Amino acid sequence: MKLLIATTNPGKITEISSLLSQANVELLTPADIGLELDVDETGSTYRENAELKALAFSQASRLPVLSDDTGLEVEALGGLPGVRSARFVNSAHATDRDRRKLLLEKLSVHPRPWKARFICVATLAIPGKPLRSMQGECTGEIIPEERGEYGFGYDAIFLVTGTQKTMAELNLLEKNGISHRAKAVQALIPYLQY
Ligand code: IMP
Repeated sequence: MKLLIATTNPGKITEISSLLSQANVELLTPADIGLELDVDETGSTYRENAELKALAFSQASRLPVLSDDTGLEVEALGGLPGVRSARFVNSAHATDRDRRKLLLEKLSVHPRPWKARFICVATLAIPGKPLRSMQGECTGEIIPEERGEYGFGYDAIFLVTGTQKTMAELNLLEKNGISHRAKAVQALIPYLQY
């Protein structure tokens, strides 16, 4: 079946495409179908936001849709930036680098280790079927210097538990072997049918 990925984030698109490469789906991006849709993430949980995105894209396209909402929760900051991870820096023009920099500034007054986790909720919206949402988590700690060239977002300052590597030092297959997004998306594979 056709499956629209409800994101324009190239990092997420690459990861999800690889995760679903063996599934029997034809993946489409919003650009593939000429759809420009910016959904306000007004929910107070990852699940609400993932479901808002999935429903909006599915209503606009009439296609089955897979969405994802992700956040980084840092213990020393009481779980922030959390569900506000994308809007952590108060500017529409902020980059991933700006967000990493602000996070490290806020953490600099706290003692290490800076324990953290990524949470991802992935939602599947298939027209005529109930929404399905699955959550994945990956634990680690924030480190004060950037390491690695892969990934995106907060990956370069997130040291993955049980490895000596940041998420940005893991290549695509390695990240997909352990990530929050991989766990959430893989849990939806059994439901990828009409
Ligand atoms: P959203 O899920 O698109 O709302 O992303 C929330 C924020 O978390 C954005 O700043 C992303 O860059 C960041 N983010 C999302 N997924 C990941 C990931 O897998 N690794 C690192 N940062 C991520």
